[in-house]
Amino acid sequence: MDIKKFGVIGAGQMGNGIAQVVAASGLEVIMSDIKDEFCEKGIATITKNLDRMVKKERISQDDKTAILGKINTTTNLNDMKDVDFVVEAAVEREDLKFKLFQDLDKICPADTILSTNTSSIPIGRIAAQTGRPDKVIGMHFMNPVPVMKLVEIIKGIATSDETFSLTWELSEKFGKTPAEAGDYPGFIANRVLMPMINEAIFCLYQSVGNVEDIDTVMKLGMNHPMGPLGLADLIGLDTCLAIMETLYDGFKDSKYRPCPLLRRYVEAGWLGRKSGKGFYDY
Ligand code: CAA
Repeated sequence: MDIKKFGVIGAGQMGNGIAQVVAASGLEVIMSDIKDEFCEKGIATITKNLDRMVKKERISQDDKTAILGKINTTTNLNDMKDVDFVVEAAVEREDLKFKLFQDLDKICPADTILSTNTSSIPIGRIAAQTGRPDKVIGMHFMNPVPVMKLVEIIKGIATSDETFSLTWELSEKFGKTPAEAGDYPGFIANRVLMPMINEAIFCLYQSVGNVEDIDTVMKLGMNHPMGPLGLADLIGLDTCLAIMETLYDGFKDSKYRPCPLLRRYVEAGWLGRKSGKGFYDY
């Protein structure tokens, strides 16, 4: 299948990063969100990232113009009517993703592949919302998308081998390295990462260490580029909580219980970098 036009649902930190790498690979992209201001913010972030690359002489001014010229935005999901491949990167809420996949199944041509950037919701459950479960797949990018090399690829129980190989090849076309993970809550990345972050929050909750000390231990002691609390702020504390809930509900194992302090921060609207306050102030 020849992929020419790519749809990205969601213009937030994952969506705009995905749109950027897809456009940089030469494909046409249409990026949708529910409000014009979200689309504008997404384009502003891409522009800022590309400006930084121009300044570092990684790309030329003409490349920047060409990449931006390949990205269109919309607030009307019906504009996905002629895309060959979709990545859904909306908020990590099951009800919302279910509705989006029901709608996309009606709007997109019958052979369009519908992928999801979900960080933890089982692909089979999302695929069951559509009449084309063989063409539904997990394509999980990491944050910040333009920098991180990994794409985790997850087949649902009904995903076809064709859909899988096409998604694998596309990831490589975007300059990423794919890795396959099984369709269980959290896949590999968040099954391993999120309990570590949650445990770091428990250390803070139980005064085992303060924010700086916890992050210093993991940065300097384990050579992680960021401490777990700084990384939680980058990912978004609402997303971290949603992933822990998915692990907890999915496995019914108490080892995945979200730390009460994480819940308190989210309830207070302290969501990390995107809200200006999390474990650090921004
Ligand atoms: N967008 C685009 N580029 C960015 C960026 C962003 N948001 N943030 C940093 N960069 C670029 C910088 O321009 C710089 O580029 P060059 O090397 O080409 O000059 C490079 O990344 C390094 O940036 P900095 O020197 O400013 O800072 P750093 O060395 O501390 O790196 C980092 C920043 C890349 C974010 C690094 O700290 C890191 O790798 N952190 C861990 C990130 C991580 O673990 N991500 C996975 C999160 S989990 C996830 O995404 C899955 C999920 O489902 C929750």
